[in-house]
Amino acid sequence: MDKILVHGGRSLEGEVRIGGSKNSALPILAATLLTRERCVIERVPDLSDIHYMLTILSQLGCEVERASGVVQVRAEKILTEAPYEIVRKMRASVCVLGPLLGREKAAKVSLPGGCVIGDRPIDLHLKGFEALGAKVTVKGGDILLQATELKGAKINLRGRHGPTVLGTGNIMMAAVLATGTTVIEGAAEEPEVVDLANFLIAMGANISGAGTQHIEIEGVKELHGASHSVIPDRIEAGTFLVAGAIAGKKVTIRRTNPNHLGAVIEALGNAGFDLSHTQDSVTVSPNGARHPLHLETIPYPGFPTDMQAQFCALLSTMDGTSVVTETVFPQRFMHIAELKRMGADIILDDHHATIHGVDRLSGAPVMASDLRASAALVLAALRADGVTEINRVYHIDRGYERIDEKLNALGAHIERVKV
Ligand code: EPU
Repeated sequence: MDKILVHGGRSLEGEVRIGGSKNSALPILAATLLTRERCVIERVPDLSDIHYMLTILSQLGCEVERASGVVQVRAEKILTEAPYEIVRKMRASVCVLGPLLGREKAAKVSLPGGCVIGDRPIDLHLKGFEALGAKVTVKGGDILLQATELKGAKINLRGRHGPTVLGTGNIMMAAVLATGTTVIEGAAEEPEVVDLANFLIAMGANISGAGTQHIEIEGVKELHGASHSVIPDRIEAGTFLVAGAIAGKKVTIRRTNPNHLGAVIEALGNAGFDLSHTQDSVTVSPNGARHPLHLETIPYPGFPTDMQAQFCALLSTMDGTSVVTETVFPQRFMHIAELKRMGADIILDDHHATIHGVDRLSGAPVMASDLRASAALVLAALRADGVTEINRVYHIDRGYERIDEKLNALGAHIERVKV
């Protein structure tokens, strides 16, 4: 199990290239199950979560080839049972349910367990499958879906904490091969949903409204192979922007889509950083005064929950008192206790974190608990005095491609140590 040592206090300067989006690539790879023909997916990031998804596809019977960011999948003949041993490692495995149900009218996939960012139910996914005509059974830790025919239906996917991203993807993937029209209300508007819809459309699906709360899908008889390039990872981009803000002189992120980063760019601007952008790059540089923030996570186009931890790290190092409210995953605050070990002054009250900025953070041994919490610890460590030892870094490798190397190329001093 690797750990990383961050030697704090270095200034970051330069450019960094952003990879393909993990949260787009995962459902898009699952969608290749919907056709017997070959699909070619480009700009697939080299991450352990992607590796798990490719293993699931192989075990379902797909031919999978991968070469430098390009993945080819041919799902000529497939099984409908996803093996527990792999599924349990990644919650996003649930996104094979929709395509298996759509194509084979049957699926058996383990029910994902809890997760450190909180309770993560999939009731909305299951409600959607039922509305399309599937019989849903949960037995022995598995979800079983069975249908003789899938029929288009009107489905509202808005839950207590807002829309569901993977749920919207799952229902779209099941509905593309259903008979008739499916209308999804309360759909997630995230760019990853639009990216998945664009891939499905390239495969011959009939979908309109992706990127709004109202998606319509007119079922077709079958889909064909297609090629697709995954959108840039907006959360990796946001994380490097915060790295630039927390420790940078001037950092430019390249190969990104600034349109997907609106709320993050706005928050950094409100905090007093200088930001400029071109069509595919964003530059952040320190400016004069800093201003504390009142931030609330909200589904897209609001401020993303996947950037909440990184902003907690940044705000800990800025003058004044900021308040961060988490509405999407109200328990997603595992990073707070670790940031406090580094000297941050944060009071957590239910789903609100009140952050009093401190002059200095100090390096300490800390524990990565989940993907974005780990990223936040790396960011805080860039600004801390001394060395921060971050254990359990496999969490960070799930969602950031070579983050240590990319930060070192900007001037950081990070070592990866095999334990
Ligand atoms: N929810 C329900 N019922 C459901 C599904 C979700 O109540 O059936 C609730 C969740 O508990 C949560 C809210 O709805 O309170 C939103 O969850 P959502 O379903 O949108 O999350 P997800 O689709 O499982 C994706 C990303 C997450 C990201 C969230 C929110 C992937 C693989 N994961 O998860 O990414 O935080 O959307 O934007 O796309 C990450 O990358 O670190 C990560 C956790």
